[in-house]
Amino acid sequence: MKKITIAIDGYSSTGKSTLAKQLAKELGYVYVDTGAMYRAITLFAMHSGYIGDESINVDGLVSELFKIQLKFVFNKDLGFSEMYLNGENVERKIRKMEVSKNVSRIAEIEQVRIKLVEMQRKMGAEKGIVMDGRDIGTVVFPDAELKVFMTASPEKRAYRRYKELLDRGEKVSYEDVLENVEKRDHIDSHREFSPLMKAKDAVEFDNSDMGLKEQFERMHNHALRVIQKQ
Ligand code: DC
Repeated sequence: MKKITIAIDGYSSTGKSTLAKQLAKELGYVYVDTGAMYRAITLFAMHSGYIGDESINVDGLVSELFKIQLKFVFNKDLGFSEMYLNGENVERKIRKMEVSKNVSRIAEIEQVRIKLVEMQRKMGAEKGIVMDGRDIGTVVFPDAELKVFMTASPEKRAYRRYKELLDRGEKVSYEDVLENVEKRDHIDSHREFSPLMKAKDAVEFDNSDMGLKEQFERMHNHALRVIQKQ
């Protein structure tokens, strides 16, 4: 069967990666979480002292972008890929609230986007890929055969994220998480380069009141129909 490209975009904490991961597994496709790439660059910027309380040293970070090596390494025990930054497994570190607070500002930088979009296009050159992010259907793969745009209310998304962070042992308040979700929505949708928006030919998918099983079944059936049409 012919392989296709599946682009899943949407607001933060809509469950894009859970769905994309499951879909890729079922179809035998490669899964790429592009948010992890922006998060890894953010971690690099934090460790290198390029992020201050109020400002970011964009020139400094851009001059060191060439030093950043990103790699997804499949972890057989966990059943998914983990992000490596310059040889170090940073999967846990990049999910921390501290990184979430800074990542949208790093994702606004044009040179960061250019570097990552180029890497993402290479990863998907052979098709058979499910990629999730904010600009996959609009910029990275505008010709993707299947585009999905996921939404859910900010409160539902914040609650899911809050539970996820608590499960991981982080001490956070729901109000803090909601504020972060709303702030990121705003920055992601209003930035100059590749703002988050629904591609004209994307299917909108609101999962505010939908369980994981139903989401997966709907999306899987839809993907199979698109694949069969090729
Ligand atoms: O999907 P996520 O929440 O892990 O993404 C983290 C941040 O990275 C998000 O606030 C926006 C940014 N991002 C982006 O600008 N473009 C992408 N393709 C993926 C993520």
